Amino acid sequence: MTGTENAPPVRWYGRRGGHRLRKARRERLERLLPILRLARPAPGGTVDLAAAFGAPPSDVWLEVGFGAGEHLAAQAGAHPGTAMVGCEPYVAGVASLLSIIEREGLTNIRIFDDDARLLLGSLPEASIGRVFVLFSDPWPKARHHKRRFITPATLDALARVMKDGAELRFATDHMGYVRWTLDHVIRNPAFAWLAQRPSDWRRRPADGFETRYERKATGQGLASVHLGFCRRRRARAA
Ligand SMILES: C[S@@+](CC[C@H](N)C(=O)[O-])C[C@H]1O[C@@H](n2cnc3c(N)ncnc32)[C@H](O)[C@@H]1O
Repeated sequence: MTGTENAPPVRWYGRRGGHRLRKARRERLERLLPILRLARPAPGGTVDLAAAFGAPPSDVWLEVGFGAGEHLAAQAGAHPGTAMVGCEPYVAGVASLLSIIEREGLTNIRIFDDDARLLLGSLPEASIGRVFVLFSDPWPKARHHKRRFITPATLDALARVMKDGAELRFATDHMGYVRWTLDHVIRNPAFAWLAQRPSDWRRRPADGFETRYERKATGQGLASVHLGFCRRRRARAA
């Protein structure tokens, strides 16, 4: 079972297109994306991570909504032995990540240029060592809350693909989304909140990198909250 068999259809509310890309970006996108793209397998199929990275990766980290890609690229540069999968349907964001990948010569990133929820059901069980959901769209209006990435269904999907002990890192400057996330994750028995003291959620983890939206929030005088959760150990069959 991959979790996709009876999954309801996923509806996308964010941007995909936008301004026309400059010629160099368009060309890079056409040249590099087909090489670095993580294709979605047929329904019920499983992504072959070893084939995607050319060898079985020792660990795989996943970023949902990488935006312009600076954070994912920084993590890839800091952890060259870790395979990174980034999900982002916004074409200009993908183009931006590709320019960083080319400039920095990064070889450990693959891109799923679509809604992460479409990938989660196709990833192998217990294959992901860390997940980043950073400054995910907060959809502040109450009638739009169901569009938020953190839902009972995505948390179940994350719990399936995350390894025992894997970390889910969530950050936002929207206090309503902080409460929503704590409320949802704490109700899910697969996760435990790692915070021991206020500095754990008030400060970005020491090995984290600032994202574009975090910088924007700081520039506007807004505090960001960093939540870290651990995927609990699975119960073993007796
Ligand atoms: C507010 S931006 C933040 C971008 C980046 N993480 C940052 O902190 O600068 C949120 C991004 O998440 C992407 N996004 C939203 N929902 C997504 C999903 N289900 N799968 C993949 N990307 C998603 C959006 O396209 C957008 O680029």
